[in-house]
Amino acid sequence: MENKQIAITQFGGPEVLSILSSPIPEPKAGEVLVRVAYSGINPIDVKTRAGLGWAAAQNKDNLPWVPGYDVAGQVIKAGEGVSRLQEGDNVAGFIGFPTQGGGYSQYVCVPEKELSLVPEAVTLEAAAVLPLAGQTAAQALNKAEVKEGDVVLILAGAGGVGHLAVQIAIAAKAEVYTTCSESNLDYLATLGAHAINYQFAPVSQRIEKVDVLIDLVGGDAALDALKCLNDNARVVTVPTLSAELICEKAKMLGFQATGMLVDPNPEQLDTMLYMVSVGLLKTEIQHIYPMDEVQQAHKQIETGHTRGKVLLDMK
Ligand SMILES: NC(=O)c1ccc[n+]([C@@H]2O[C@H](COP(=O)([O-])OP(=O)(O)OC[C@H]3O[C@@H](n4cnc5c(N)ncnc54)[C@H](OP(=O)(O)O)[C@@H]3O)[C@@H](O)[C@H]2O)c1
Repeated sequence: MENKQIAITQFGGPEVLSILSSPIPEPKAGEVLVRVAYSGINPIDVKTRAGLGWAAAQNKDNLPWVPGYDVAGQVIKAGEGVSRLQEGDNVAGFIGFPTQGGGYSQYVCVPEKELSLVPEAVTLEAAAVLPLAGQTAAQALNKAEVKEGDVVLILAGAGGVGHLAVQIAIAAKAEVYTTCSESNLDYLATLGAHAINYQFAPVSQRIEKVDVLIDLVGGDAALDALKCLNDNARVVTVPTLSAELICEKAKMLGFQATGMLVDPNPEQLDTMLYMVSVGLLKTEIQHIYPMDEVQQAHKQIETGHTRGKVLLDMK
């Protein structure tokens, strides 16, 4: 028995991703060994693979490095002192964030306190969608203090974070507008949002009097969206690259504005798993790639037009 892991061997294009073999790890005290069924791919993995951002800077002398923060699978062994989880439990987690990673593995040891139990009614595929993207969505909406009746504009509602943010905001009884390309208009309308085609005209020409902007695109799209806001509007800009610029401009215009870095929170994941189990949240998966097609999976994320999430089948 071996543990196949997908590693970044050097920084570069998708071709630097290779499958390596290592022994199956032993859980330490407080940890469980998880046999991973699905790992989620996030844009940060692609950025790090290319050698960009702080996760790359932190790991530049630590290659080959196994990326991945989202896992869903089954507990197959419990370390000493583990009390809440047991062999056979289905679990999901947002692990190793931000510098350790390790989610692109068939087997991984995780402190039990970092894992959520996956309810019977939730598939492991759906559970793998939620950790990083779902918590980013929930934390962005919390930071913006979205409440019933708010008019919320979410840029990029069809993506990994966006499709969950749209639904969580709607569940909080906000009125949700979101931007997408023509091909996602119907999809986002079925989630209950007012979908705006950004390819047709800038969003600032289509909507006004917005209370909250959740920016998942950054750059010019975010700067344009600032023109849609009410006095005293709140702005949360999620892409880190342009956050400083957007916040500066937003504050100059008199808005409250902040960037964010998602923070792993297992209780929040518990809540989202519950929401999925009762049908309040629908996870969308563009494609599940077998682990040996990870290069294709990264290319899909690099298109910038993934609907929902891309997963790796690690079985
Ligand atoms: N700060 C943090 O802690 C944190 C955490 C998570 C994510 N992020 C960042 O947040 C961003 C979103 O992440 P994600 O996982 O949701 O990415 P993603 O899944 O790759 O987003 C893809 C989506 O973006 C949409 N899109 C592309 N260009 C657009 C535009 N100009 N206007 C509106 N929609 C557009 C696409 O819709 P169409 O196909 O319809 O165009 C597609 O559905 C990324 O930059 C990511 O790095 C930051």
